[in-house]
Amino acid sequence: MKYFLIFVSFVLFLHASTDNTTCKRCHPKIFNEYQNSMHKKASIYNDPVHKAVWDKHPLKQKGNYKCAKCHTPADKQLIQNGGLPTPNPQQLRHPVACQTCHTIENIEKHAKSNKNIYSKKPKMFFSADPARRGEKVLFHETKSFFGLFRKTEGSPYHDIDYGNALFYNGNVCMGCHAHKENAKGFAVCDFKVKQDDKSKHNCISCHMQKVKGSYVTLKDTHVHAYHGSNIVTASPAMLEKYVKFSVIQEQEGFSVVVENEANHPLFPHPLRLGVLKVSLQHNGTLTPLKMHYFVRIIGKNGKPSSPWLADSVIKDTTIQAHEKRKILFKHPLEKGDHLIVTLGYHIVNPKMAKKLGITEEHYIRFIPFKKERFAF
Ligand code: HEC
Ligand code: HEC
Ligand code: HEC
Ligand code: HEC
Ligand code: HEC
Repeated sequence: MKYFLIFVSFVLFLHASTDNTTCKRCHPKIFNEYQNSMHKKASIYNDPVHKAVWDKHPLKQKGNYKCAKCHTPADKQLIQNGGLPTPNPQQLRHPVACQTCHTIENIEKHAKSNKNIYSKKPKMFFSADPARRGEKVLFHETKSFFGLFRKTEGSPYHDIDYGNALFYNGNVCMGCHAHKENAKGFAVCDFKVKQDDKSKHNCISCHMQKVKGSYVTLKDTHVHAYHGSNIVTASPAMLEKYVKFSVIQEQEGFSVVVENEANHPLFPHPLRLGVLKVSLQHNGTLTPLKMHYFVRIIGKNGKPSSPWLADSVIKDTTIQAHEKRKILFKHPLEKGDHLIVTLGYHIVNPKMAKKLGITEEHYIRFIPFKKERFAF
C-alpha cells in the first residue's frame, strides 16, 4: 500500500505542470525564502516600482513587453508570442521561477544584454556541491528480492547535474544582471562587475550564503543556500559585513573611509540614491554633518531623462567594486568625541519618485544599511 501511494504520488508529480509549488513539497525552506525575494516580485503585478516605470515606457503603447526575458522568463507564452503581460500564475507566483535559474545551461554575451540559454531537458536541474562536482545524479530505484526492497538515489522528482561551472563561479546570474542597453545603444544599467584577484567572493557566495535548515525534507543537510535575494529584507548582517567603515584623523578634521568588498558598485541601480550620514557627538550634543550622496544619473544633453531617452551618464558617484572611498569632513575631533556613521539608501531617489508618481513610503524613505559608532 505504502509503495502504491508513493507510486501514485510520483506519477502525479510527473504529470503536474512544473511550477514552484511542486518544488515546495520537498524544498519548503527554500520555497518560503523565495516568497520574499525580488525574483518572486519581479513582475509588474508584484513590484510597484517596475510597474511605475513600465507604465510610462513607450513600449507599453506598442504592446510589447520586452522586459520579460529578465523580469518574467517563466511566462513562456509571453516570451514566445510577445504582447503584454496578463495576471497568470507565472506572473503572480514565480516570474523568475526555480526552474528558470536551475535550467540555465549557458550565458551568451551580447552588447544589448546577455542571453540565458536554457537546457532542453525538462527535469534535469543544475546545482553546485563541491564534493559532487561533475556528477550527474539520475533518479533510479534499485530493486532486489523480487522488488521487496528498494533503494532510491537522487531526488524522486528530478535529475541533478553538478557539472555546470556557472553554478560555482556565480556567472549563472550574469544573463540578467550584467547590463542592459536602450534602443539608442546606451547602457541604462551597467553592473560593472570586477571579478579579479581581489575577489574572494562571487555572486553566489555573498547573496546565497549557507544558512541553517535542510534544503530538502527527505534528508537532513543542516544548511541550505539562502534564496531570499532582496537587499531590504535579506538579514542586513548577511550583506553589511562586505562594506567596511574606518575613520582617519586628518589635519583639517577627519575622513570616513567606506570600503566596498562587493565585485559591483554599491546601490548601482539608476533609481537608487545612496546616502552617507555622519553625526558628531561632542559634550553630549549630537550634530549631524553634511550628507554625502552616491548616485548614477543617466540622461541626455547634460540633463537627467527617462531611461529610454538617455544617451549618456550625467554623473556617477557610486562607490565602485573594491573601491575605498575617502570622504573628508572639516571638523576637528577632540578626545571624548563620538562619530556615528550610517550608510543607507532610498530604493527610489525621491526626485524620480515624484516624476514616476510613486508615493508609497517604503520606496521613498531612507533605509539604513550599516551603522557604526567610533569613539575618540
Ligand atoms: C519529491 C520530492 C522533490 C521534489 C518535488 C523536488 N525535489 Fe529537488 N531534490 C529532492 C531530493 C531528495 C534532493 C536531494 C538529492 C540528493 O542529494 O541526491 C533534491 C535536490 C535538488 C537540487 C540539488 C541539491 C544539491 O545537492 O545541490 C536542486 C537544485 C533541486 N532539488 C531543485 C528542485 C526544483 C527546482 C524543484 C521543483 C521544480 C524540485 N527540486 C522538486 C527532492 C525533490
Ligand atoms: C537584461 C535583463 C533585464 C531586462 C531586459 C530588463 N530588466 Fe529591469 N532589472 C533587471 C535586473 C537584474 C534588475 C535588478 C537590478 C538591481 O536591483 O540592481 C532590474 C530592476 C529593474 C527596476 C528596479 C526595480 C526596483 O524594485 O527597484 C526597474 C524599474 C526595471 N528593472 C524596469 C525595467 C523595464 C521597464 C524593463 C523593460 C522595458 C526592464 N527593466 C528590462 C534586468 C532587466
Ligand atoms: C536566482 C536564481 C535561483 C532561483 C530563482 C532559485 N535558485 Fe535554487 N539555487 C541557485 C543557485 C545558484 C544554487 C547553488 C548555490 C550553492 O549551493 O552554491 C541553488 C541551490 C539550490 C538547492 C541546493 C543547494 C542548497 O544548499 O540549498 C536547492 C534544493 C534549490 N536551489 C532549490 C530551489 C527552489 C526550490 C527554488 C524555487 C523556490 C529555487 N531553487 C530558486 C539559484 C536559484
Ligand atoms: C532570469 C533573470 C535573473 C537571473 C538569472 C538572476 N536574477 Fe536577480 N533579479 C532579476 C530581476 C529582474 C530582479 C529585479 C526585480 C525587481 O526589482 O522588480 C532581480 C533582483 C535581484 C536582487 C534584489 C535586488 C534588490 O533591489 O533588492 C538580488 C540581490 C539578485 N537579484 C541577485 C541575484 C543573484 C545572486 C543571481 C544569481 C544566483 C540572480 N540574481 C539571478 C533577474 C534575475
Ligand atoms: C563580496 C560580496 C558581494 C559579491 C561578491 C556580490 N555582491 Fe551583490 N551586494 C553586496 C552588498 C553588500 C550589497 C548591498 C549594497 C547594495 O545594494 O549595493 C549588494 C547588492 C546587490 C544588489 C542590489 C543592488 C541595488 O541596490 O539595486 C544586486 C542586484 C546584487 N547585489 C547582485 C549581485 C550579483 C549578480 C553579483 C555577482 C556579479 C553580486 N551581487 C556579487 C555584496 C556582494
